[in-house]
Amino acid sequence: MRPKELKTRIFLDGGDPGETRSIIDILGFLDGQTTNPTLISKNPEARKRIEQGKKFSEAEILSFYKDVVRTISSMIPEGSISVEVYADPASRAEEMLRQGHEMFSWIPNAHIKFPTSGEGLKAASRAVEDKLRVNMTLCFSQEQAAAVYAATRGAKVGDVFLSPFIGRLDDRGENGMDLIAHIITMYKKGDGHVEVLTASVRNMDHFLYALKLGSDIITAPYALLKEWGGRGLPVPDASYRYDAKGLKPIPYKEIDLSKNWQDYDIAHELTLKGMGRFSEDWNSLIG
Ligand code: E4P
Repeated sequence: MRPKELKTRIFLDGGDPGETRSIIDILGFLDGQTTNPTLISKNPEARKRIEQGKKFSEAEILSFYKDVVRTISSMIPEGSISVEVYADPASRAEEMLRQGHEMFSWIPNAHIKFPTSGEGLKAASRAVEDKLRVNMTLCFSQEQAAAVYAATRGAKVGDVFLSPFIGRLDDRGENGMDLIAHIITMYKKGDGHVEVLTASVRNMDHFLYALKLGSDIITAPYALLKEWGGRGLPVPDASYRYDAKGLKPIPYKEIDLSKNWQDYDIAHELTLKGMGRFSEDWNSLIG
């Protein structure tokens, strides 16, 4: 059962409905799920098919994704399910928006994931005008977070998530948790319409520190949520200290949130690299 001191919503990061069922049983609750093309490529049914040499057509893989998302949605009808558009570094906003509309129609509780790139932000600003809920993914900087805030101004609370990826920053020696702390601090100066969804969570320390920082949402992989459940769902108190283990600190930037989204420096090599990897994993299923 949800600990009463837990304010953060807990999502599962995965593409296998079997894991969703298991986590609901272990925790006694689940507030939502995030999916992405890599996670769908790891779905056991998809893997089995690929191992048998039976690749999907484009229509088949979309239909497979829709079925997975519908199954998960039926298990968490009150929660949110993030569904990610196909976006490689050459994808245009119009095409992302078209996919976003289609995916949003799959289930009643979708948030559509767009990359935090120029084209992704253009698509997202139009999507929120069209009343779609969005989850801006592959965020690696405070400037990108400010641009998401600006591009989605006017959306209501609950309709916009921002997913900063901490593990991938840690992977290259930077303290990803600093980014979460800084974005939460920066957003306190705003109107609260963007919720921080801590993503790319790799270990229990990431998870516990994100709880302590007051992240609105955390998405974590199956093994980590299972471990948290096994430990009795601990929620850290004021005495909790995060050990960055020598990772390079990311400095806080004073950023004005009132600019147009196009006026922020949103370029980040990990965003491009991430789009490349997601699209490769998706394309590996198609033949
Ligand atoms: C969730 O929304 C993200 O896609 C996911 O957490 C990425 O995690 P990774 O960096 O471990 O691939």
